[in-house]
Parts: sequence; structure tokens; C-alpha cells
Amino acid sequence: MKKRPPTPPTSWSRREFIELSAAATGFSLAAHPFRFRQVAPSDTVRFGMVGIGMQGNGLLGTSIQLPGVTCAGAADLYDGRHTLAKEIAGANLPTTREYRKLLDDKNIDCIVAAVPDHWHKRMVVEAVGAGKDIYIEKPMSHTPADGVAMVEAVKKSGKILQVGSQRVSSLICAKAKEMVAQGMLGDLTLVEGWLGRNDPTGAWEYPPPPDLSLKTLDWDTWQNDVPKRPLDANIFARWRCWKEYGTGVAGDLLVHLISGMQFMLGMNEPPKQAMSVGGIRRWKDGRNMPDVHATVYYYSGDLPVYMRLNLGTEMPEQYRIQGSQGVLEVAGNKLTFTPQSGKDQWPSYYTGSYPRALRDAYQAQWHKEHDPTPGQAPALEESVTFTTPDFDDTRPHLWNFFEAVRTRKPVVEDVVFGHNAALACHMANEAYFRRTAVTWDEGTKTMKA
Ligand SMILES: NC(=O)c1ccc[n+]([C@@H]2O[C@H](COP(=O)([O-])OP(=O)(O)OC[C@H]3O[C@@H](n4cnc5c(N)ncnc54)[C@H](O)[C@@H]3O)[C@@H](O)[C@H]2O)c1
Repeated sequence: MKKRPPTPPTSWSRREFIELSAAATGFSLAAHPFRFRQVAPSDTVRFGMVGIGMQGNGLLGTSIQLPGVTCAGAADLYDGRHTLAKEIAGANLPTTREYRKLLDDKNIDCIVAAVPDHWHKRMVVEAVGAGKDIYIEKPMSHTPADGVAMVEAVKKSGKILQVGSQRVSSLICAKAKEMVAQGMLGDLTLVEGWLGRNDPTGAWEYPPPPDLSLKTLDWDTWQNDVPKRPLDANIFARWRCWKEYGTGVAGDLLVHLISGMQFMLGMNEPPKQAMSVGGIRRWKDGRNMPDVHATVYYYSGDLPVYMRLNLGTEMPEQYRIQGSQGVLEVAGNKLTFTPQSGKDQWPSYYTGSYPRALRDAYQAQWHKEHDPTPGQAPALEESVTFTTPDFDDTRPHLWNFFEAVRTRKPVVEDVVFGHNAALACHMANEAYFRRTAVTWDEGTKTMKA
């Protein structure tokens, strides 16, 4: 195994960064014939963390506990999160406001990015362009056009991209996938999913960090290509509420349901059509994205899919996958399959409307054809339930990414899968705002109303 240089002591300047990289590889980078470091299967994976906010702090803490994975540096535009990153990964962790420094460091193998949605495309395109694999948080894209550009950039680069919708790494979803693939549900008839919350934090009314100022935060860069506004601490903390930065409940929550569904049903395509209803019904705080959003889709084979998100009434996240031979309910770390025969258990009650003689004749014939032969008990129809002790999907999802970086094997949720899941969310938003059905046109790679 290749020896690692000691962890650098403090935050970087650009020069220190280049010197550190050069020291790590033992020669001048400018003179080296290979542009990028190749990770040997037995080697430690060194990642750069970008965005140490609500999600990023957990990703950082989880990643550094994985064997053979180490954080080589962290970038955030808000200095409070440099302090936080060091609290998580150690005082020696180099921190910077400039994520480009991580991308340019040839001794970093990959990036884990948990930045707001309006940054995803740029982060991904620049990261793979700089030769880095990347774990990008969900929803993969902020707009359909962003997603198209990301797919193109990642394919062209040959780099690995994993999207951070961790349901696809859940043991329960894997069990459900197996049961669906075995045909236990018969013909799929309808897929339902829902999730509800009913508290300010669940509705994204987060308290902004109290020391936020133009001194502690590079607000100009944070806004990326959105028209610039004066510092607004609420936008910094609650960016999900506005379409300029976030993707609403669709991109925040529906994307988990869609990704999990794609995985469990073995699908990897955008919906054929979406229609939505909803509104800002509970949290009239200036947001421009709906807090209630229900969408019906047609997927391939005209499979109806009905997804409901509600930030005004709490309901646990759940799927009900329905088929001609039963119902599969998936919720958290629990899965229940309830089989159904799909056959009449009794003579049809409609024959109560027959006159007696006809009814008696029908019933006698029915029993003759359907009653079990004496001594042969009818088959039992019992529900089966599986539970997993651990509901942490993020750890295996990150592990899947780092293993892919090490071995170059495909990830569980690549750029095309993530694009298709995000498209379902963009279609839900478009259908809501336009109040009409929308479709995805693969030829022009645009939504059509
Ligand atoms: N998979 C999940 O379950 C899950 C859960 C929560 C959030 N997320 C996703 O994670 C992402 C981040 O969400 P969050 O809630 O952590 O947001 P957040 O606002 O709490 O944190 C984002 C951080 O990124 C930093 N940042 C923004 N632009 C940057 C840039 N150019 N360079 C460096 N740092 C930059 C910000 O300063 C902030 O500290 C979003 O895409 C969100 O959808 C996923």
C-alpha cells in the first residue's frame, strides 16, 4: 500500500495546497506525466468535502468512520462550518472557502458534495472535469437542462458519480426489490407513496446561524448564477423554500420516494406523464414552492403512480406497491407483504338479486366448483413482515461510492438513474405551476405541456 503524507496542519493557501500535493506525490505536479492520481484497490480513498451544512456534517462524520476512507480537506463558504468540520474530523483538517482548491489537489481522489441544489450542476461538471469522482446530494439536478448537461459531462469524463438518495442502499428496499422481481405481486396495478410533516423544522423554517454576516460568509459566491440580492440569512438557511435555489418538496422529499421506487421496481426512466395538485396551504412565510404537492404519473407500460407530499400534516414515509396478487407496504425499516388470491372467496353477492330458484342453482354450482375437496385444506394467505435493525441507509450508500472509487465498479445510483429520478420531480413541479399535464420528450430533452 502506498504511504500517505502526514495530514497537513492548517487551512490552506493556494500555494500551500499545491506544495502539499507536490510533497504527497514526491515530485513536481507540473512535471508529472499523469494528470490524476489512480487509487489502487488496497489504497486509502481521500475525499474532499464540499458543504458542511445540515446534510454535509453527517456525511463527513459518517465517511471518516468508514475503513480506508479519509477526509483530506473541507470547503464551505461560511466560516462557522470550517469550525464545525474541524470539530468533526479533527483540528488538523484543512479548510477553505474555495472548493476549487479541493478539485485542483491531485492528491484528492473524489469529492463528497452537499451544497444547495442551485450549485449541483456546476459542482459536478467542474469536479469531473478536474478528474474527480463525485458523490452529489439529491436531487441530482436543479432543472432538467442541468441534468442533461450533468449526464453529458459525467459520461464524457468517464468519472464516477453517485447521487445521494440513500433509499437505494436500504436493506428493506433490496428485499422489496427481490420480492417484486420474483413476481410475488403478480401484475403491478398501482404504486402509491406518501410523506407528511407538521412542524416548522420539517417545513424548512430553520434558524439561521446567528453570526452570519458578509464577514463570515461569501454570500456573493453562495448565490451562484441566481440574480444577486443583499445578504438574507433566511435564504441561506431556508433556501429550499424558493425555486431559485431549491426544488421544493418534489426535489427535497419526493425524490427519495421516486429513487426508492425506481430501485424496487427495477425501473430507470423518467415518467411518461405527470399531473399535479397542491398549494402553499400551511406555511405562508414568503416561500414560492408548494408545501402540499400530490402528483399522479404514468410510467412505462401505463403504470399509474400516485405520490403525495404534505408539510402541513404528519404521515410517516410509506409506499404501497399494489399488484394482482397482493400489496407490498414499505415504511422505514419495515416491509409487509400481504398476499391476495385475486379470486372470489364466496359465491358472488350479486346473486342475492336473483329469484330463489336461480340463486340456489348458482350457489350449488359455485360450491361444487370451488369448495375444497374434503381433507384438502385451502392454502393459507398470511402476511409476511421483514424488519431491519438499522435504518441507516447513508452509511452503506457512501460505502458503495467509496468502493466504486477504489475498484472502478459501477455505483448503485449513477448519473442516469439520478437524472431520471430528478426529472420526475421537475415534471411534478412543472405540472403544478402550469396546472396541466406535462411529458418528457427525450428527442429534444425538454418538458412539454
Ligand atoms: N440525502 C438526504 O437525506 C439529504 C438530507 C438533507 C439534505 N440533502 C441535500 O444536501 C444538499 C445540502 O443540503 P443542506 O440541508 O445540507 O444545506 P445547507 O444549507 O445546510 O448546507 C449547504 C452548505 O453548502 C455551503 N455551500 C454552498 N455553496 C457552496 C460552494 N460553492 N462552495 C462551498 N460550500 C458551499 C453553504 O455555505 C452551506 O454551509 C442539498 O442538495 C439537499 O437536498 C440530502
